[in-house]
Amino acid sequence: MSNLGDIRRDFDQQGLRRSQLLSNPLKQFESWLDEAIKADITDPTAMTLATADQNGRPTARIVLLKGLDEQGLCFYTHYHSNKARQIAANPQGALVFFWPAMDRQIRFEGAIQKVSRQQSQAYFQSRPLGSQISATASDQSQPVGSRELLEQRAEEIARQAEKAALQLPDFWGGYRLIPDRAEFWVGRPSRLHDRFEYSLQADGNWQIQRLCP
Ligand SMILES: Cc1cc2nc3c(=O)[nH]c(=O)nc-3n(C[C@H](O)[C@H](O)[C@H](O)COP(=O)(O)O)c2cc1C
Repeated sequence: MSNLGDIRRDFDQQGLRRSQLLSNPLKQFESWLDEAIKADITDPTAMTLATADQNGRPTARIVLLKGLDEQGLCFYTHYHSNKARQIAANPQGALVFFWPAMDRQIRFEGAIQKVSRQQSQAYFQSRPLGSQISATASDQSQPVGSRELLEQRAEEIARQAEKAALQLPDFWGGYRLIPDRAEFWVGRPSRLHDRFEYSLQADGNWQIQRLCP
């Protein structure tokens, strides 16, 4: 195996200055996301979601960003999954985006709430039929005996879908992370990176400060 200590890549992005940042981190993120989408980078909406159980034991996994509004960042999942059980016990979380092609990392932390049934419904109906079938067939995060059992379950649901349009299952829907902290990071030469933190103040304004990398 190669010496992991020798694997390194220098970053040489243009610097990030306080004067370039918008006053709201969700607006700032929207503008960076637009740039990432225009640059055609792979999976710009993939984000690591960290949650923790009631004892503080953390778990992290990737989910896709499916909505961004003035309140927060939305993703969709199974409401009986491991992440959902953790969110029910401890409704706080963190999200991390890493876009290596742009040497950018964005982090959000805050409360997590379910989105409205109406919003989940609209998103579920907008998905390709195959994704609707898989979401309905999968008891996410539970053990399953074999791939064949999973496929049989999906085929059963596909047959039902031929007779009547699939409805949003009770156990599936969205969550919104409502940030009270955010961070924007840009890789710079020799690890002297740029890093800005947004923290939500009691008066509803965001305080922005540069952090040491
Ligand atoms: C690129 C990528 C995108 C994913 N998007 C989602 C998603 O939007 N929703 C979801 O529930 N799982 C998604 N997953 C699967 C999750 O990472 C995870 O395996 C699953 O949600 C179960 O997590 P849990 O057991 O911690 O609840 C995605 C995985 C990858 C690699």
